[in-house]
Amino acid sequence: MRKIGVALVGCGGIGKIHAASLKTSPYAELKVACDLEASRARAIAEEYGFERYTTNFDEVLKASDVEVVVVAVPPKYHAGLSIRALEAGKHVFCEKPMATNLKDAKEMLVKAEKAGVKLGIDYQNRYLPSHSKLKEIVDSGALGELVQVRTRVAYPILESLPSDAPMLGWLFNPDVAGGGVLMDIGTHWTDLARWLAGRDYAGIYALIGHFDPRIPDEVEDTATILARMEGDMQAIIDVSWAVKASMWLIEIYGTKGTAMANLPQGVLVYDKEKQDWVNVEMPPWEEPHAKLLNLFLKSVAEDKEPPVSGEDGYKSLEAVIAAYKSAEKAAEIKLPL
Ligand SMILES: NC(=O)c1ccc[n+]([C@@H]2O[C@H](COP(=O)([O-])OP(=O)(O)OC[C@H]3O[C@@H](n4cnc5c(N)ncnc54)[C@H](O)[C@@H]3O)[C@@H](O)[C@H]2O)c1
Repeated sequence: MRKIGVALVGCGGIGKIHAASLKTSPYAELKVACDLEASRARAIAEEYGFERYTTNFDEVLKASDVEVVVVAVPPKYHAGLSIRALEAGKHVFCEKPMATNLKDAKEMLVKAEKAGVKLGIDYQNRYLPSHSKLKEIVDSGALGELVQVRTRVAYPILESLPSDAPMLGWLFNPDVAGGGVLMDIGTHWTDLARWLAGRDYAGIYALIGHFDPRIPDEVEDTATILARMEGDMQAIIDVSWAVKASMWLIEIYGTKGTAMANLPQGVLVYDKEKQDWVNVEMPPWEEPHAKLLNLFLKSVAEDKEPPVSGEDGYKSLEAVIAAYKSAEKAAEIKLPL
């Protein structure tokens, strides 16, 4: 198995998860941990066994033993760092959203193509066992022609993150985060709905709102997207930081059947003969970030398509940008933009 030298850029909350994932990947050689704050880079390097650490991104670009750069900094800086890494001939695994606007996201795609390197995006929720199982059911054809995908997720952010989480220093600043809940978790769900449906968005209508007075009102904390998808299918995507609890719910309706992933319970399908919902046996639990990052490294080692590509990242971001435009104009926005 070919070993791949990796640099982790951004050693904050998610950086730590990527470091742990890299440590378990049979493909990864942990070379450089990089952060603007030396203490964070050093702490991650020491805890997870990176060979060295730095505060200087140029050292990562120049390092001949680094093939893959994992970009795990706040969203505003994803495109700038990724583009420099791609231009330096490195493969890039970038956090979501891949950029805060479509121009930068497109440039990332173009640079990756031009350099002949791989660009992958961290939409790890595809690899939650229940979501992989749902995809398997959809792709088997058991649900018939797809009619609608509905998703609902509540992530009460202020209750979910520790009050000293560094992320809270930028998450509610639209200049850095690119927006509110739609940019943060919404892009995960626009990716999931598109991936499960196996088709692109054709039109989007969205409502966005602000309900939690503790969250700055420059950003939306709740949003609903109604989407037309190619082939006359529909999607409804609800995301909120403000509501206090919901199961992570995905329902998929087809002409022959219905399936739902109802986290934390699992996957249910409607059995017409029993006239009841039955639980589907689940694949074994694997940490989804670790699974996706390992598959990305495998795609580099074997020169295959990345499991979640830059194009996938672009499409999920495009749906969210269309949702903002729709909310502003109170009108349906046609895609592609
Ligand atoms: N895929 C997921 O489910 C998921 C979950 C959490 C966060 N994220 C994404 O990961 C990214 C980082 O989030 P986080 O929670 O780790 O943030 P964080 O604030 O905890 O950490 C970001 C780190 O990046 C460093 N940094 C900033 N600019 C830098 C630069 N130019 N060079 C080097 N280091 C730099 C900061 O010093 C900090 O240590 C965000 O884009 C976020 O949306 C994704």
